Amino acid sequence: MTRILGIESSCDESGVALIDEKRGLLAHALFSQVAEHAEYGGVVPELASRDHVRKLLPLVDQVLDEAGTKPEEIDAIAYTAGPGLVGALLVGAMLARGLGWSWGIPVLPVHHMEGHLLAPMLEEDPPEFPFIALLVSGGHTQLVRVEGLGDYELLGDSLDDAVGEAFDKTAKLLGLGYPGGPELAKLAEQGEGGRFSFPRPMTDRPGLDFSFSGLKTFALNTIKGVEGSMQDKADIALAFEQAVVETLMIKCRRALREYGATRLVVAGGVSANRHLRSALQTMVRKEGAQVFFPRMEFCTDNGAMIALAGLRHYKNGARGDAALIARPRWPLNELNT
Ligand code: KG4
Ligand code: ZN
Repeated sequence: MTRILGIESSCDESGVALIDEKRGLLAHALFSQVAEHAEYGGVVPELASRDHVRKLLPLVDQVLDEAGTKPEEIDAIAYTAGPGLVGALLVGAMLARGLGWSWGIPVLPVHHMEGHLLAPMLEEDPPEFPFIALLVSGGHTQLVRVEGLGDYELLGDSLDDAVGEAFDKTAKLLGLGYPGGPELAKLAEQGEGGRFSFPRPMTDRPGLDFSFSGLKTFALNTIKGVEGSMQDKADIALAFEQAVVETLMIKCRRALREYGATRLVVAGGVSANRHLRSALQTMVRKEGAQVFFPRMEFCTDNGAMIALAGLRHYKNGARGDAALIARPRWPLNELNT
């Protein structure tokens, strides 16, 4: 009965979780630094690192306590080794290595995006391999063909801003707080459709790559042309969100058709977006396919997805080595074995 402790610290959330091969997730805890970074309008890397130093170990204690698990009952520790902010990554890597050394157990580096990609497998009705994955976060917009654990083919990537980044930057233009994605989505609820029409970038040509920086510029120009009332802003937020959602939907449909796939997995912070979830549900139903999402709290960064990725690799025979790994940049397909 394998038990893995997962530690996430790639950006502004400290996440810890304990997973059991048979019983599933035993406990998980998260500390979000959002409030601290909000006054600067974005993540301040040095503050993030310092906060992980303060919060991670107490979170480990809390999770072990809640799970009623002693260190002797844990088989390995998985930590996020990248991609992410190097200082933040180093804090998690050093904690994992230190605990692994003192408890005498293996320590496994995990790729953050692989964690996101596997997150829907924490749910009741988990997706089976193979599937197409849409990874939409603050740093990534990727379509990946997933044949199995560690078998990832990158089909499409962002040429400029990641979709979460486009949400955050457009939210800032609309005068909303950080992180902008959820705030913009909330404002869009008050919006009336049909007033503005944003482009659907790169949908009129073949291929699966994305470009979202133009939408942000389009938003800026649209804002300049209105008075700036709350209703104006809500209408712009809605038009922006609709353009992003439809663009992602078109690319996912194209990927499913092109590869004859019947399963779509959507993960990363932006997969929490309700309009995106319902548009993809409608699309897969028409295509005779299925879509899988993480539960809301596991769309954004968390320790549970890292513990799960660690468990899957441990069951595959991975035992790690003595290296301390922190890779700010780390292409997902480098994981392929
Ligand atoms: O996966 P994540 O927590 O961190 C990264 O790995 O980047 O994703 C964070 C991103 C942010 O850009 C945030 O604005 C966006 O996900 N996000 C959303 C929503 N919730 C989070 N974007 C749109 N709608 C949402 N409901
Ligand atoms: Zn993430």
